[in-house]
Amino acid sequence: MCGIVGYIGKREAAPVLLDGLKRLEYRGYDSAGIAILKEGAINVAKVVGRVKQLAESDRMSTLQGTTGIAHTRWATHGKPSERNAHPHGDCTSTIFVVHNGIIENYKELKRNLEEEGHTFKSETDTEVVAHLVEKFKKEGNDFETSVKKSLKLVKGAYAILVMTTSEPATLIAARLSSPLRIGMGNDEFIVASDPSAILNYTQEILTLKDEEVAVLKDGEFTITSLNGDRVIDREVEKIDWDMEQAEKGGFAHFMLKEIFEQPETIENSLRGRVIVDEGLAKLGGFNAVKDELREIERLTIVACGTAYYAGQVGEYMIEEYAELPVETCIASEFRYRKPILTPKKDAVLVLSQSGETADTLAAVSEAREKGVLSLGIVNVTGSTIAQNTDAGIYNHAGPEIGVASTKVFVSQLTVLSLLALFFGRQRHMSLTMGKRIAEELLKIPDHVRTILTMNDSILEIAKRYVNYSDFYFLGRKYNYPIALEGALKLKEISYIHAEGGSSGELKHGPIAMIDPNFPSIFICPKDSVYEKNLSNMEEVKARQGKIIAIGTEGDDELGKIADDVILIPKTLEMLTPILSVIPLQFFAYHAAVLKGKDVDKPRNLAKSVTVE
Ligand code: F6R
Repeated sequence: MCGIVGYIGKREAAPVLLDGLKRLEYRGYDSAGIAILKEGAINVAKVVGRVKQLAESDRMSTLQGTTGIAHTRWATHGKPSERNAHPHGDCTSTIFVVHNGIIENYKELKRNLEEEGHTFKSETDTEVVAHLVEKFKKEGNDFETSVKKSLKLVKGAYAILVMTTSEPATLIAARLSSPLRIGMGNDEFIVASDPSAILNYTQEILTLKDEEVAVLKDGEFTITSLNGDRVIDREVEKIDWDMEQAEKGGFAHFMLKEIFEQPETIENSLRGRVIVDEGLAKLGGFNAVKDELREIERLTIVACGTAYYAGQVGEYMIEEYAELPVETCIASEFRYRKPILTPKKDAVLVLSQSGETADTLAAVSEAREKGVLSLGIVNVTGSTIAQNTDAGIYNHAGPEIGVASTKVFVSQLTVLSLLALFFGRQRHMSLTMGKRIAEELLKIPDHVRTILTMNDSILEIAKRYVNYSDFYFLGRKYNYPIALEGALKLKEISYIHAEGGSSGELKHGPIAMIDPNFPSIFICPKDSVYEKNLSNMEEVKARQGKIIAIGTEGDDELGKIADDVILIPKTLEMLTPILSVIPLQFFAYHAAVLKGKDVDKPRNLAKSVTVE
């Protein structure tokens, strides 16, 4: 995810900004830039690459002054390039902006501004803000009013810093659904998207809330809402994290941080893509191929590991709701099995967090060689897979640092739900059903928030089970792939042996293993296979197998069979996997920590698997 730093005070801004950018490097980025204001002019330096290159670039020597903004960019709109790197300026290069988040309606805003004569230099969504501020200033508004008027037109998410030569002693900060903190120094402010960029200078930190605008001027600050109401009671926190803690947002590990980020991750994946009234999913990345997609007769989903399990859930969703036949394949098998693919009738959809997985990339090549439409759901913008597919959807989950995928998995499930809605409404799905899915999808982030409150109780369960050396993870239908994912999570980070499977398959062999030393984790929400799942649970109980059950809130039956029960909020059956996987992530995480394992960097594993 992108990183923002701003400085206004008495010292030279550049060293503070570069230090801040370095602290934000862990978040991942592809380009960096800085702008500093001095004597009526704003000087800018940008690079594609590392902050070190920016610090060593020739342009840096011209950047002197005590007010500045800086940014590390993780491309979302427009490829990584100097042109697209922030800060972005207006037509007159007197107003500069850095921004985290996504401006959903930027195309419309850009079109209007271009019609009014504004000239854009980048492909980014961010640049519209600089031009909007320019427009409102030209209409006679002061700087602060111009920023507020601009932000009122913006739909989406932002953490933003703006400065202008016309008010050189002022820095404006604002946010909506994207974090922004203000460090309160002595006669100086350090503003950043993340406390790690601030803590070197001060521990006194104020957190801006949504739709608030802070004006930092002459060592003083004021905060008002976008509508102009003065905010007076905002407390300044003392954050006494060390640097390592700060990078992890105060969490012990990146994996835990990423588990806790999931409500926002899902919101980011849904943002601008759900039209509730029309029961539609708006997938801009598929616009160019939507007519071809209407005609396909089969979709083949190809991926590896966790992404493959997400694909399996997608298969159930799309077949049930769009009545489009779907087959999910492991990428390393797909490339060697001579798949039968027919142009116009088939499409291949690959899922990949990194966008660099060699086996998955090979599937894209296979599809292209056979003249079949290739589609991607990819997290890393500009990655090889993103570049090689005919059309694609980005997860917008931000960088995932823990090797074990968590937040990108739920994001993949979210995007696949949107895809089921998209295909469904193209084919047979009624408006009523479309609306229902859209409404339920928008409730998912809050359901996830509810599950996050169960972290402590799941820790207690993990403590009771951590010394078992084998586990089954079992589920049916939509939650069968989640059983596979739960087992993978546990084994990859705790090194405890775990197998995932379908509850219905137990009696065809695996049940032979069940005894009091081989616990099972059943994913058993109140869905269309609930009764069947309960019977399978009884079979395990009859063999003295211990059971942890994940069910739906209000279910009193599970507790009569299972030893431990975790209840999650009720949602549509197709969406239950997004919720049911979270207790399994917590369970794996706590088991690994209790066993003293390196959760973020498990042995023998790499985040991006670029070899066969
Ligand atoms: C497990 C995990 C892996 C990846 C797999 C595919 O937690 O993260 O199984 O899902 O290696 O990687 P991507 O999605 O980058 O193609």
